[in-house]
Amino acid sequence: MKILMDLHASYPALSDLRARARKRLPRFVWEYLDSGTGAERARHANEATFAAIPLPPSILHGEFQADLTIPLLGRDMPLPFGIAPVGMSGLIWPDAERHLARAAARHGLPYTLSTVAAQTPETIGPLAGEDAWFQLYPPRDPEMRADMLRRAKAAGFKTLVLTVDVPVASRRERQVRSGLTQPPRLTPRLLAQVAMRPAWAAGMAQLGMPRMRMIDDYAGLTKGLPSHAHAGYLLRTSPDWDYLKWLRDAWDGPFIVKGVMEPSFVPRLEAAGVDALWISNHGGRQFDAVRPTVEALPDIRAATALPLLIDGGAQGGLDILRALHLGANFVMMARPWHYALAALGPKGLDHFVDILRLDLASNMGQMGVKRLRDITPPRG
Ligand SMILES: Cc1cc2nc3c(=O)[nH]c(=O)nc-3n(C[C@H](O)[C@H](O)[C@H](O)COP(=O)(O)O)c2cc1C
Repeated sequence: MKILMDLHASYPALSDLRARARKRLPRFVWEYLDSGTGAERARHANEATFAAIPLPPSILHGEFQADLTIPLLGRDMPLPFGIAPVGMSGLIWPDAERHLARAAARHGLPYTLSTVAAQTPETIGPLAGEDAWFQLYPPRDPEMRADMLRRAKAAGFKTLVLTVDVPVASRRERQVRSGLTQPPRLTPRLLAQVAMRPAWAAGMAQLGMPRMRMIDDYAGLTKGLPSHAHAGYLLRTSPDWDYLKWLRDAWDGPFIVKGVMEPSFVPRLEAAGVDALWISNHGGRQFDAVRPTVEALPDIRAATALPLLIDGGAQGGLDILRALHLGANFVMMARPWHYALAALGPKGLDHFVDILRLDLASNMGQMGVKRLRDITPPRG
């Protein structure tokens, strides 16, 4: 308790964790985590649009204890937020996937493991608790596709998330400027950046350089591909509606589509039997002309009764309330968890959960919202 109080004195907000993370990460890692694509208009607009949404204060509503629980996909979640997928989390901080999965289990949060994580579903599934979600980048090869689903299921992942907003690779100019290559290679320039960040370097020296472990298992399938192609090429495809249908039929648990921004696609997604939509523009990392996610939210809410998740630029409890007020059922975050982990190690994750909890309860007090689930009916 004392430790957490001390952390609140030094790092009361996400911005404090972000500032410390920046000091502890090699430049190319920071640029990988923090950047968007193009001029980063979309990345900044996500955040700015959240910040500009007013919420109604309430008066004379008496005292109450805020209830933060909320229903999602037939379950009662203790908190209204979770961890979005991040490829190569283990490059951002040593052993990040394990730390994130354990923190998710401790606090009852969903943890979404990326196809291109630095750990396999077999390692992470048993650590992640009740809500282990597996995020799929669609493999080209049908056998690889079926095998990945089988492995995720067997490892305890009950929910499948298909990401659809990466139809082609994006350019990510900031990453390029930092010297990061695809796949990452430790050039002298990157080694010089590493030498300036001892905590990160010591962790990596102990664990070895992270790799996309699940994809590596299919490296044999790259035989016959052009010589410049690496295992990531196996996933570089833009799925279509038939692919979606195949996945829906192949997966017998909750199925979420991530990267929905336009209401015009909603009727077809509903007809395909998707269980929830995840409003996301990939944190502004793919298409710099896309609108902010929280701006798309009311339009998509008007188009469907399906549960809606949203990510992109949420900075704290107040942004979570803004999203729920506009009709979202649940809020996901990606970068913030990695700022917290890089700033303070695993205890940074607990601290960030605590920040969000306090921020939610305080602002619910201002709004007179006793139960989060009542903020805008109906939901579930
Ligand atoms: C470093 C990094 C890697 C990411 N990798 C993935 C990924 O592998 N799969 C995926 O669906 N989304 C990926 N995303 C997108 C996030 O899941 C999320 O949609 C986005 O970052 C917006 O949330 P945020 O503003 O809270 O970071 C990645 C984001 C970042 C920052």
